[in-house]
Amino acid sequence: MDYVKLYAEVLAAGLEGVLTSSEIERIIEKPKFLNQGDLAFPCFQLAKTMRKPPVEIAKELSARLQSSIDDSMERFEAAGGYVNVFLNKPKVTKELFIEIGQKKNHYGDLDLGENQIVTIDLSSPNIAKPFSMGHLRSTVIGNSLSLIYEKAGYKTVKINHLGDWGTQFGKLITAYKLWGTEEKVKKNPIQELLALYIEFHDEAESQPELEQEGRNWFRRLENGDAEALELWKWFKDESLKEFKKIYDLMGIEFDSYAGEAFYNDKMDSIVEMLKDKELLIDSDGAQVVSLEGHELPPCLIKKSDGATLYATRDLAAAKYRFEEYLFLKSLYVVGNEQSLHFKQLKAVLGKMEFPWADGIIHVPFGMMLKDGKKMSTRKGKVVLLEDVLNDSIQLAEKNIEEKNPYLENKAEIAKMVGTGAIVFHDLKNFRMNDIEFSLEEMLKVEGETGPYVQYTNARAQSLLKKGGYEGANGDFKMAAIAEWPVITELQNFPETIKRAIDKNDPSLIAKYVLDLSQAFNKYYGEVRILEENAEKNARLLLVHCVSTVLEEGLRILGIKAPKEM
Ligand code: ARG
Repeated sequence: MDYVKLYAEVLAAGLEGVLTSSEIERIIEKPKFLNQGDLAFPCFQLAKTMRKPPVEIAKELSARLQSSIDDSMERFEAAGGYVNVFLNKPKVTKELFIEIGQKKNHYGDLDLGENQIVTIDLSSPNIAKPFSMGHLRSTVIGNSLSLIYEKAGYKTVKINHLGDWGTQFGKLITAYKLWGTEEKVKKNPIQELLALYIEFHDEAESQPELEQEGRNWFRRLENGDAEALELWKWFKDESLKEFKKIYDLMGIEFDSYAGEAFYNDKMDSIVEMLKDKELLIDSDGAQVVSLEGHELPPCLIKKSDGATLYATRDLAAAKYRFEEYLFLKSLYVVGNEQSLHFKQLKAVLGKMEFPWADGIIHVPFGMMLKDGKKMSTRKGKVVLLEDVLNDSIQLAEKNIEEKNPYLENKAEIAKMVGTGAIVFHDLKNFRMNDIEFSLEEMLKVEGETGPYVQYTNARAQSLLKKGGYEGANGDFKMAAIAEWPVITELQNFPETIKRAIDKNDPSLIAKYVLDLSQAFNKYYGEVRILEENAEKNARLLLVHCVSTVLEEGLRILGIKAPKEM
């Protein structure tokens, strides 16, 4: 039940047309403290039109409303310039129990999307290079956004725009032919290919002819030379195998792996279009699109040697995605440092007069830091993500071994907790913030962590088991005093989904499951849930609702919820 809407309707009637109910809906606030009521209507905006001080308006309005009170409401109260409403707790509680009971894990589903398509460009690591922390953030945020959008009624297409083309492959082939062996690459693809790449750069300092050799190999690759293509494809397959280990650990799948190379045969037509629209201008032999009107530097389309660029590929990819999927929105979950690139991309598509250019949305995020510094995957200090995930799983297993040694499926649960910890740590901060990487912090069972939420859910599950809960028995009666903060949190779930979509930010969901967990754990500390009395079944029903929503909240973050841990 949407009580904001209901209250807005009651207020609109009371205000006799001064504001419409949808206008009012936007102004209604949730008071910080529950003793100030459940919803608050600020009268400050009305003061001008009604030529009265807000305090007076609030007093008059709350008196007038008493006569039109809905039976979901208990009373109105004027406080300062606000009219607060206190909901009828037993009635609201009962309605919520019935709603969650019927909808189960579909509680919170919205029909905002009406099955329209959202493409999500996510993860997109570079072949023959280690999977970086930035790619991890993109993977985790993009995957959660996809789950949130699906819950809100959209259809999503997850695209892994692999960095699988560029001059670096010419260098890599050169280095491999000189110093590499098949055996070594097979054994440790990413590390070996990275080592070859580094060796190339070291050697090229004293042997400049290597650079030329690298360019030659890239040219052969671009011209479809069989040997070059075979090596390139092999490097790509080996790298993908490694990346897939990470995706498997995290339970993430993609709808498309169309990477940069996929657009090789789609570049000419986009360059032609730019020419036809007279957008291409010459700049020192290179071809650029001027973006002066947008206060952006020009977008480089073709280098003077005729080579196309990252931006050219993204233009072709955007057009392809629209034609292939007819998206409503096309999200790019890519680090903050590429903001300029995506501004230029959108501006050029706008200049090309593609009506869908408005749907192009860059979803940027901050950096992952270690001891306050950017975590680097370059030379020497490579942090291999697979190792990080495995470390986290191992640490989780150790924790379980200490606290709950007789647990069944220990390995399986350690995997859920270890990966969940990393994912949650990434998602709990507003996505634009930089985040500090610390395995110990992530795995704490107290504090704002994934394991804390998982543990809260496991506690709820164990209460249900101990209490012999067998489902609602039609008796919803409870005083609804101590439970009220939990009920209001449960009530907040659907609108939280909506806000997460508006902001393209899963952190709203992560914060929500933390709030719900905290409210529930406080309740657990105050009330003897399993006490045998008339309200026991209703209390267990509440526990059941909490667990349903926690599991669903975790699911749309991309985190599993073990029943025991
Ligand atoms: N491979 C790129 C990188 O690692 C990210 C690609 C993002 N997606 C895109 N369509 N540009 O920086």
